[in-house]
Amino acid sequence: MTIPLIERFRDRLPVSAATPVISLGEGSTPLLRAPRLSERLGIDLWLKWEASNPTGSYKDRGMTVAVSKAVEEGAEAVIVASTGNTASSAAAYAARAGISAIVLLPQGTVASGKVAQSRMYGALVLEVSGSFDEALAAARELASRGSHALVNSLNPYRREGQKTAVFEIVEELGAAPAAIYLPYGGGGNTTAYAQGFAELGGTPSRLVAAQSADRAHTIATAIRISEPVHAATATAAVEHTHGELVTVDDAEILVAWGDLARTEGLFCEPSSAAGLAALTHAQPAAGETVVVVITGHGLKDPASAETHAPPPARVAPDPDAILEAAK
Ligand code: F0G
Repeated sequence: MTIPLIERFRDRLPVSAATPVISLGEGSTPLLRAPRLSERLGIDLWLKWEASNPTGSYKDRGMTVAVSKAVEEGAEAVIVASTGNTASSAAAYAARAGISAIVLLPQGTVASGKVAQSRMYGALVLEVSGSFDEALAAARELASRGSHALVNSLNPYRREGQKTAVFEIVEELGAAPAAIYLPYGGGGNTTAYAQGFAELGGTPSRLVAAQSADRAHTIATAIRISEPVHAATATAAVEHTHGELVTVDDAEILVAWGDLARTEGLFCEPSSAAGLAALTHAQPAAGETVVVVITGHGLKDPASAETHAPPPARVAPDPDAILEAAK
């Protein structure tokens, strides 16, 4: 039976018997060894496949806690500003809880799968004529009026849920890996990972946060965030763990993205490859155990795949023609 994240980590989360558990079977995601990339890079590389969460991204870890607490506190509606994944997750968990959701998306820059998800889950989907940062400011202001619970990562329950990825990684490997690499957009997840290590005690993994060189325009639309709200805590997380803040450009993200799919069979969205791209900047020592967090599914962003993957060739339904095409 699928164990809800809140049940698996109940003793380490701010929940009580009075908290309704709003779950879609999140967390407990695969930690996959990457044999070919390990060999190529001379390290022991593992991939935390967060795309296997119910809405296809790691956001579900925090959303189960945030929406459960919102319902416990009597909320009838949630609001979120999002580059897409938080929106999908908020919309899904609101539907599961039987409450309404408003999701604010920066107009024209959200990957199509994420918009489709939010629409299907029945959220009120609003395209904001502005950036993610402007949409977030509006969401915060509206939430402060009291009618809607804000479920962006400024909501501490989100980070409480997200920290559990660290517990899973350490439990499965039997010890903290030497380093964990992850994409850095707003910095909520980097902050949550540091919180997880602080609660575990012992020596944390070096946290390596990978941000886009062009935050305002990157092809990695999930991390298209100019003003990271958690910059201070994300930077502190990197420093305290002796990690690194790495800047990767779109070309590097695209190479890592293709490598993950072709070399290890993991099709993620471009943003999710930022951690792997950062490996060439912040090189681990030979043989070190390294975890790269793959944050969201490739099916979220089919347009990027259509632009960058080789198009199919046309062929007649004939074995010789197929063999000819395979040459
Ligand atoms: N990876 C994916 C797939 C994301 O969707 C995000 C953020 C990040 C990484 C970065 O995480 O912001 O905690 O540093 N997506 C947010 C959203 C902004 O609205 O879905 P972060």
